[in-house]
Amino acid sequence: MKKFTLSATIAASLALFAGTASAQVDLDAVLNIDGTVITTRAPAPDFLDIDEVISGWVYRASETQALQMDDFDNPAMLFVDQAMDDWNRVDGTEGKSCASCHTNGPEEFAGLRAELPRWDAERGQMMNMEDYINYNRVTYMGAEPLKWAKPRMDAMVALISLQSRGMPINVAIDGPVADIWAQGEEIYYTRVGQLDMACANCHEDNYGNMIRADRLSQGQINGFPVYRLKNAKLNSVQARFKGCMKNIRAEPYAVGSDEFRALELYVASRGNGLSVEGPSVRN
Ligand code: HEC
Ligand code: HEC
Repeated sequence: MKKFTLSATIAASLALFAGTASAQVDLDAVLNIDGTVITTRAPAPDFLDIDEVISGWVYRASETQALQMDDFDNPAMLFVDQAMDDWNRVDGTEGKSCASCHTNGPEEFAGLRAELPRWDAERGQMMNMEDYINYNRVTYMGAEPLKWAKPRMDAMVALISLQSRGMPINVAIDGPVADIWAQGEEIYYTRVGQLDMACANCHEDNYGNMIRADRLSQGQINGFPVYRLKNAKLNSVQARFKGCMKNIRAEPYAVGSDEFRALELYVASRGNGLSVEGPSVRN
């Protein structure tokens, strides 16, 4: 495991972590969504130096946490409803909707989100949720692929992710994805941007600490897509990666790029053992 030496630049950027006035957080709060208990803390996978992996939900203020405990209060569910309409809508040259073939409804995909991204032997590539949605649209419906990190795609990702809610994340990191995973790990620990910081400087070295007005989490992606109070819409995993890179004044990779795919695999695996929580609510 790569270790950091604290360079002068890092020391300077750590001035960011000044402990300003902080909202109270209850680190022992339990996330129970309408009777489903969500695992928000779990023993860390072996490849990590930390002991425990912790969902971002744990670090949110109680009011934000509460929004996720009841689906009627969770604003993300409006988008799930929209995706259900989309699920039933005929689109493309074949005159089909998702429902034409997946007649048991999106429930058919229970468990899928917990394994993604994963190697798909038939297609000979690593696939994440967006890939599956677009593969089906193009191949089976003769429809246009949806743009990543746009409302229609994010809503469909939320609908399918929801079917795995409460199931443990179980992303494979060996076999055909081993090299991609290693690339993702490399990106996670590489310092970039004007602030010369890596994902790990914030999400591994400083989780639980305040950064400006925000409390840092481990930057887990088990809760995605995430409804953010800040922009009042669903946010995809890779859109979030992009935002974090911009915040450290780095040139972000493109959504859908090989770099972000690798990073998504790596970050997903850091959450192995946590529950699929999405769609979740954050500030
Ligand atoms: C013409 C039939 C057809 C239509 C329409 C269709 N699918 Fe599929 N879909 C399949 C078949 C067959 C499979 C399994 C074989 C495969 O993966 O290609 C599948 C597999 C999938 C999978 C992967 C499941 C897994 O566990 O591997 C997802 C996700 C999926 N479909 C989502 C959708 C969505 C979302 C839509 C609508 C946008 C859609 N499908 C439309 C036939 C269809
Ligand atoms: C300067 C500190 C900083 C760096 C570096 C940083 N982030 Fe973040 N990140 C934040 C803050 C602040 C938030 C919002 C609070 C939280 O959930 O940690 C956040 C949130 C996230 C979230 C959302 C977590 C959730 O539960 O909603 C993910 C995922 C994430 N970051 C991934 C990354 C990745 C991947 C990198 C490296 C490319 C990275 N971050 C780099 C500060 C940082």
